[in-house]
This record gives sequence, C-alpha cells and structure tokens, in this order.
Amino acid sequence: MARATRAIINLHALRDNYQLAKSKAPNSRAYAVVKANAYGHGMVAAANALSAEADGFAVACVDEAIILRQAGILLPILILEGAMDEAECNTALELDLELVLHHEQQKQWLAKLPESALKVWVKVDSGMHRLGFSPQVVPALVSELRTLPVVGEIQLMSHFACADEPQNPFNQQQLATLNTLEPIKLNWSMSNSAAILTLPQSHGELIRPGIMLYGASPIQGQQGPDAGLQPVMTLQSEVIALHQLNPGDTVGYGQSFKVERPATLAVVAIGYGDGYPRSAGNGTPVLIKGQQFPIAGRVSMDMITVDVTGAEILLGDTVTLWGTGLSADIIADHCQTIAYELFCQVTPRVNRQYVGSPSPIK
Ligand SMILES: Cc1ncc(COP(=O)(O)O)c(C=O)c1O
Repeated sequence: MARATRAIINLHALRDNYQLAKSKAPNSRAYAVVKANAYGHGMVAAANALSAEADGFAVACVDEAIILRQAGILLPILILEGAMDEAECNTALELDLELVLHHEQQKQWLAKLPESALKVWVKVDSGMHRLGFSPQVVPALVSELRTLPVVGEIQLMSHFACADEPQNPFNQQQLATLNTLEPIKLNWSMSNSAAILTLPQSHGELIRPGIMLYGASPIQGQQGPDAGLQPVMTLQSEVIALHQLNPGDTVGYGQSFKVERPATLAVVAIGYGDGYPRSAGNGTPVLIKGQQFPIAGRVSMDMITVDVTGAEILLGDTVTLWGTGLSADIIADHCQTIAYELFCQVTPRVNRQYVGSPSPIK
C-alpha cells in the first residue's frame, strides 16, 4: 500500500467560502486570490472550481496568469505585483490581463505599447510602504496614463498592513489616506480577507479575498469557523508504527520528549519533508478517531511521533494534522506562524485529492 500522506481539498468548501466573501461585500466584485498555487491548494483546480461564480482571479505574477490561461481560464486576471519587464507588458496585452502599476519604470514600458484597452490598477502606498506611489503623485500620474494609447480603464488599489487587527487605528489611517484621492473619482480596491470581514467601509469596487477562501481565519486570535468559514485543505496521514515505552525512555532526535509514565507512542507518516512544520513542538495536537493527541518528540523529515497513551489506536488509523475537526489556525499558533504559511509549505510529495468538484481536475 502506498504512503497515505494526502491533502484532501474540498472544492465545495472553497466555493462556499467565496460566496461568504461575496455576501459580506454585496456591492463589490470579488477576485479570488489564487497566487502561490492557491495558497498550496492547487491553482488550476481552485480556479476551475470557482470559475462559474468568480468575478475574476488575482495572482502575484504573469507566470501564474499564463498557467491559468493555458488551463482555459477566461475570466479577468489581476497581476498583483504588475509586470516585471517590458515583455510581460506585451504578455499582459496578449492574454488580456489586468496590471497593477506600482513603479515609474512600469509606466515607461506601457508607454511603448500599441493602442489597446489594458486595465491598469494604480497602486497607492497608503502607509504600508511595500509597493505603490505616494498619494500626492497619483492625480498627475493618472492624467499621464490617460495619454498612453495602450491604457484603458484606470482604477486605484491599495493594501492594508494591519487588517488582521481590526482595532488597529492604522487601518482607518490608511483608508483616510486613500480617501484623499476621492476627488479624482476612480474605482478602487483595498480589502483583503480581514478587511472584507471587519471593515465594510473598505470594500470599494473590488474585494480581493485570499486566505478566507481556504477557510482559515484572517483575524489574529480567531479560527476560520468563528467567521463561518469551512476548511478546504484537510492534511492527513496514518499510523505506521506503535510502541510501548517506559518511564525514562526518550523519543526522537535530540531526545526532546522524555516519557514519565508507561506510554503508547504512535508513529505517523508525515514530516517536514511533506511541509508539516518542524516548529510543531511537544503538545501540538493531531486528531485521531475524533480525539486530539499531543505530538511527543521532534518532527522529522518523514515522520512525527504522537502520545496516544490510553486510547484504542491501531496501525493504519487515519491521522488529521489540520483541516476538518482541527483548525489550521490552532496548529499555526503552536508553530508561531500563520495558516497561510502552513498551507503554502505543503510539498509536492503530498498527493492533493480533490473532492466536491463536478469535473475531473488536474
Ligand atoms: C495585494 C494583495 N491583495 C490581497 C491579498 C489577499 O490577502 P488575504 O489572503 O489576507 O485575504 C494579498 C495576499 O497576500 C495581497 O498581497
């Protein structure tokens, strides 16, 4: 029998989460953010599953958009980091992509292109200081863009630095900064998942839901189900060995777990070579037969060890690392990270099994 390590991807849940995002911002369009292989879930599969209802997609770069177009996705695609060179501007025209413009040089590339109706989103730096133009220069920039033959519709976008902390006053400050551009009367887009859920005044013409589509919480200290989200990825493996240990025995690399009472240890076929984080220390829960058990000993490349003392656990029992029944947000807390990173780190070795799709998916 093959190694049982798998990520079950529930495409029904993905669609439901997209609908939840839409219901929070009923007057906005919503581009599903499917960059980074749909946060590790499989970009083409996710886009196919959403294509009947999504208004469009957002990816980080032109290469990701090419993959979507080659897979037959015809909906609008927004390139969040914009073009990296002149050739990518041409590709954007050929593939009918929407480009973020965050840098002077990108404008110069656009100036060389023939007449068209390229949709451009001018990125406004409303305070995050990652990408974008300062608001003061935006009105003149927009006027200049209007003179370029290639440019069609011009819209504004910006990004929150602290939307995962709804009470943080910086959110309002960023919105106020964007609002200084109200006089130029352009559509704008500002909301990531956290802002979709907690800052309705930020919804604008277009929302950009990412992590909420995948069922994890965008808000610090909360779990996906608290916001009505359903987990999409359930990461599973199985018990491949069981041992009886005595007080004083130690487990795994570095002897990081010491047995204090007679114990039963289950060995599970998943490790950091699959993307299960090595930072998951002693006590991080896994789910077996509906019950949580703590990791005991260091995560290794292909295996973890779990203290299942007192429970009827058998070889071959299914172990859930996160997903249905055990929120990835909980595991992320144990690892001092965020569910985004857990999802993105699941390696290609883990077989993605898609459920809830009407059509066979790559
Ligand atoms: C510009 C931009 N918009 C939207 C998103 C989606 O954010 P989230 O996954 O928090 O919803 C991201 C993700 O990093 C982003 O970079």
